[in-house]
Amino acid sequence: MKITVIGAGYVGLVTATCLSELGHIVHVINRDPHKTASINAGSPPIYEKGLDTLLKKNIGKTLFATTDYRNIRDSNLVFICVGTPHQQDGSADLSMVRAASRSIGENLAKTEHSPIIVVKSTVPPGTTEGIVRPIVLKYAGKSDISFAMNPEFLREGRAVEDFFHPDRIVIGCSDNSIFTHVASVYRNIDAPILVTSIDAAEMIKLVSNAFLATKISFSNEIGNICKRDGIDVYEVMKGVGMDERISPHFLNAGVGFGGSCFPKDVAALIYFAESHGEDPIILKSVMKVNEIQANRMLFILKKRVGELKGKRIAVLGLAFKDDTDDVRDSRAIPVISQLLQEGAIVVAFDPVANITMEKIFPNICYCGTAEEALTDADACLVMTEWPDFSRLGNEFERMKSKIVIEGRRILSYHDREGICW
Ligand code: UGA
Repeated sequence: MKITVIGAGYVGLVTATCLSELGHIVHVINRDPHKTASINAGSPPIYEKGLDTLLKKNIGKTLFATTDYRNIRDSNLVFICVGTPHQQDGSADLSMVRAASRSIGENLAKTEHSPIIVVKSTVPPGTTEGIVRPIVLKYAGKSDISFAMNPEFLREGRAVEDFFHPDRIVIGCSDNSIFTHVASVYRNIDAPILVTSIDAAEMIKLVSNAFLATKISFSNEIGNICKRDGIDVYEVMKGVGMDERISPHFLNAGVGFGGSCFPKDVAALIYFAESHGEDPIILKSVMKVNEIQANRMLFILKKRVGELKGKRIAVLGLAFKDDTDDVRDSRAIPVISQLLQEGAIVVAFDPVANITMEKIFPNICYCGTAEEALTDADACLVMTEWPDFSRLGNEFERMKSKIVIEGRRILSYHDREGICW
């Protein structure tokens, strides 16, 4: 099939590259010419495991990056994969979805051909039908264009693997021929396909993320309770997760969830509920527990080292999770902000995210190794579950005082205190 993917962020670029690997001819559109040049040169502008190899293999053959919308005129399908960041009030900023819809419409006005427009961006229920459809039809000046919603469930750092081995594929659409066309894109992927209404497909994505976030906040609350009594929350949740009805996934207690998805999607669902006159008590608590959890890191630190002014604090891990350089809503951000506010000297190390965090905190010290960050430190905070950190041992001996507080259960070093274990 000929496919156009609009947006070359994490979702767009992974989707485009993986679709080209499946044998489709894919054009990925991005407004930034530097980004498209980098993609066409075979170099992904983001770090994502396995993407580099697939991009190099397919670029110039079945995959092409461009700033030009003209390719959609002979595409069978157009996937909208632009960002929907959250605004101050928690609502999703749909300006990029609107802009993409308008560009699609303007280009379809110049051709007889009508591809199916598939929304993949995470959007509040009602967006595809209430915003994308009317904008595309208005600028295209026609009414015979079909629409579908096909949410993605890719995890950053494991996105390529998740693309080829999903738990399910959800296709929201209004008739069988649209379903058949969209489903055929994934014909080589072995996964159950669920067909739903467009609104339900939009809701499935938000609710999936909200439920996973709920599991994390629940585990964190249980961890906080367990720690008071010296009970290991990891033993507890292992036993709890062995119940098939609960499952062992997303029960790892720690400093809370970050990233560009969970905080944004829970906030979007809260906004959606409230704008429909509902009070989403559980969802609001999920966010509250997550906010408080970062403060606990500082609370334990201050209990152990006293006043933070002038103290050298090593922060290990800046990315919102392992295997990514993404620092969006990373739990390291509120922790570093508070450390700086209290006058601490922050010495940070992340295996890949030093550069991305430097844009947020240009004035802290970034180190090339964990050992360098730990040298002469008064305390250490572990913020990301990088597997490499599990091998750290002698490096901690270089600290001035060996106060090691873990926000993620990853160290094998014995002399450490967990945030909630
Ligand atoms: C999440 C979902 O897992 C994907 O299914 C979804 O497609 C994606 O959002 C999205 O909406 O695009 P992602 O944000 O990449 O994926 O990362 P996760 O692996 O889900 O982790 C999110 C956060 O939760 C991280 O900060 C991680 O450290 C934290 N986490 C995860 C925990 O604190 N405990 C856990 O047990 C699991």
